[in-house]
Amino acid sequence: MEHQLKLENKTYNLQRYPKTDDNSLKAWSNAELLAFNYIEEKNTDNIHLFNDRFGVWNCLLSNKNTTTIWTYASQQKAIEQNLLLNNIINNTNFKTPLNNLNIVDLALIKIPKSLELFELFLQQIHKASNNKTEVVCCFMTKYFSESYLKIAQKYFNNLTQTKAWKKARLLILNEPKNNIESNKLINKIDWKNSYLQQYYGVFSSKKIDIGTQFLLENLKIKENEVNILDVASGNGIIAFDIVKQNPNIKLTLVDDFNLAIESSKINLKGFDANFICSENLKNLIKNSFDLIVSNPPFHFEYENNIEIALSLFKEVKDCLKENGRFVLVYNKHLNYKTHLNIIFSKTKEIAVNKKFVVCECYK
Ligand SMILES: C[S@@+](CC[C@H](N)C(=O)[O-])C[C@H]1O[C@@H](n2cnc3c(N)ncnc32)[C@H](O)[C@@H]1O
Repeated sequence: MEHQLKLENKTYNLQRYPKTDDNSLKAWSNAELLAFNYIEEKNTDNIHLFNDRFGVWNCLLSNKNTTTIWTYASQQKAIEQNLLLNNIINNTNFKTPLNNLNIVDLALIKIPKSLELFELFLQQIHKASNNKTEVVCCFMTKYFSESYLKIAQKYFNNLTQTKAWKKARLLILNEPKNNIESNKLINKIDWKNSYLQQYYGVFSSKKIDIGTQFLLENLKIKENEVNILDVASGNGIIAFDIVKQNPNIKLTLVDDFNLAIESSKINLKGFDANFICSENLKNLIKNSFDLIVSNPPFHFEYENNIEIALSLFKEVKDCLKENGRFVLVYNKHLNYKTHLNIIFSKTKEIAVNKKFVVCECYK
């Protein structure tokens, strides 16, 4: 795997976290380098960084006063790991997309796959902008579409695109618009006789995912299943549904994405629930859960990746009580059964349709 980024007379060692066995995946792209080159000569010291996924900008801009808007717990760890690897003092100022920012002079955005998350970033910047604010959005050209421009036009008057360099390009935004409506960027999703809310960018923004629905149709909580963990919990829909079956359940929800966790806090207000923003289950008590449920992640941005799910499955096994069960749903084509059979002593497909499998696993 290529870890070394050579720039002029400096070499940076940049690694991905979580680690991957896929040698084609790097901790940076030409898009981030293009944005860095563009702003390098600017005098601005106050820079806000959005979607610096593995910390390349934090390393390259360590001599500036940067604020990092983090979205994933694993992103924070990747940034900290790469600063340490490169002997850079960690002065990182972390904020979330829901925090108010001080004045934004210059912002760098690696455009996320989610249009909604892009809009959330722009709204946050816009609220802290003045007439000198500049936003440098970078992207690999194959992932760009008109839809990103339409969103940018809602917040800025002046949009310029640069020429492509090594299949990357920049979209520069200037002149924040006046008097725009600043709605709270949250979606409402009807569910049974109720509804859930979720911040822009959280998984499945228009309706409850059909895989999740299939899991819920086939999930009956047993009387002795009281301590329950929802892994990769998103807006909290699985926990939300099962707590309706038994309100005395004690829930723990884990998701890597801070806006997912913040959404689930809204949806499970008033219930006995513990919310953890983390990309792993290492800090949970071993052998403690009666039931663990999941609709696990299988892609990250544009990458399909089952390594993360497989590593979560191993940690799920550690967290289950001796006679506890793990119930998950997955796309048929992922063929998880083979992997689950290696990790768990007993696995059983309890429901199968054209697209999905619901599987029950025992320690
Ligand atoms: C397929 S969605 C399921 C969300 C929710 N349970 C549902 O059914 O709507 C997968 C979720 O996994 C989260 N995720 C991705 N990587 C993760 C990790 N390493 N640990 C925990 N959650 C992760 C994503 O943020 C996303 O919310």
